[in-house]
Amino acid sequence: MMHSSDEEYFNSLIKKPTVFKNIGCLSVTYTPPYLPHREEELRTLAKYFKTIFEEQDEPLRKICITGPTGSGKTTLAKRFGQLLENIDKNKNFLLVYINCRIYKSPYLIISTLARKLNKAIPPRGYSFEELQSLLIRLLDFYSPKVLLVLDEIDYLISRVGTDFLYTLLRISEMTTKQWISYIFIAKNLNFIHQLDASTQSSFQSNHISLDRYSETDLKDIIKSRSELAFYDSTITEDSVELIADISSKSGDARYAIEILWGAGQCADDESSPIVYPDHVRKAKALIHPEIRREVILTLTLHQKLILLAIIRKLKHTKNAYISTNDAISSYRLACEEYEEEPRRHTQIWSYLKELSKQDVISTKISGEGMRGKTTLISIPDISVETIELFLMKSIENQKKTVEHAEK
Ligand SMILES: Nc1ncnc2c1ncn2[C@@H]1O[C@H](COP(=O)(O)OP(=O)(O)OP(=O)(O)O)[C@@H](O)[C@H]1O
Ligand SMILES: [Mg+2]
Repeated sequence: MMHSSDEEYFNSLIKKPTVFKNIGCLSVTYTPPYLPHREEELRTLAKYFKTIFEEQDEPLRKICITGPTGSGKTTLAKRFGQLLENIDKNKNFLLVYINCRIYKSPYLIISTLARKLNKAIPPRGYSFEELQSLLIRLLDFYSPKVLLVLDEIDYLISRVGTDFLYTLLRISEMTTKQWISYIFIAKNLNFIHQLDASTQSSFQSNHISLDRYSETDLKDIIKSRSELAFYDSTITEDSVELIADISSKSGDARYAIEILWGAGQCADDESSPIVYPDHVRKAKALIHPEIRREVILTLTLHQKLILLAIIRKLKHTKNAYISTNDAISSYRLACEEYEEEPRRHTQIWSYLKELSKQDVISTKISGEGMRGKTTLISIPDISVETIELFLMKSIENQKKTVEHAEK
């Protein structure tokens, strides 16, 4: 039974006043209904895909959205998808969004798409070729048109090469009735350099390039997001300006929104009814612009453990770089702590490579002054405290889900 003072404490916790009206509106998965400074681009998409609603068969349509981190690529595509779904009363088309960082292989992507068309298809058990012809048959039977959004396609291509892109485009050509249209999202157009000239030029001509946000853009974005997330007049104009100023160095709206979220949390922690610039400063000190929380969530358990190990070692030694051997011995300790069997050397190397590809860590070969050549590991800009906590929580959650699934 709960003791009455425990009950009072619990009550005071859940009834604690808060500046947040709807904190979910600041989460990474939330798509806001209004995107300041992306209105033009939304219209370009609408004009380009308006044929989706026309009866006659249209040739394959594909468009590429590029721009730096936090410039709103994913959000733009998702918002466009929502708008299409809202006006598509007759269910003329199906939008499928796939993030290639999560669905890391062509097989997973094709099977996810096939399963969107027919839920009865098992996730495994087909060869890639079988899956491809199954998808073509499904598309021929399927009446709505398909708009496939492939986010972070540059990441997939850096892993598996360009063949998959041709396979995808060919699938569209092999169906007799149904076309798939595509929105490809990437940081820049570098990934098309390995493609043949005609495919390259088709990518270049249908291309929306987003710039990083300016300070005034960010101010409008922060304002519109705080109206959704905070109670009226709980954030001062100064605080909004300070967040815009801090995040304008990178022009990254994600960073701006993370600080906004953190500043609200700080105000709540201090039981302040208003978010002041001081809360923004505290939030800034805790939030790390380089490592993206979504990226951490997509890592496997052992990739998280090795990252945790690197962070701890960097923190402990206070050096900018640590050697791979140090990282590995620290990883073994982390495995012990979480009661996990450490992976072998070659596996660890492949985790390190993967983390480096995802820009979570950076590596370089040691120069003069060290015995032999060794790979040195660093984390860009180490204000590692919050990342460590976030990682630990994420590892614990992952272990819980695994244990739950095994029961
Ligand atoms: N114009 C905008 N209005 C409101 N919120 C925005 C706007 N642009 C971006 N955001 C928010 O900023 C964050 C980052 O945007 P988004 O994920 O779309 O960036 P991205 O370009 O896909 O970045 P990355 O290259 O890292 O994937 C999201 O939380 C998104 O909701
Ligand atoms: Mg994105």
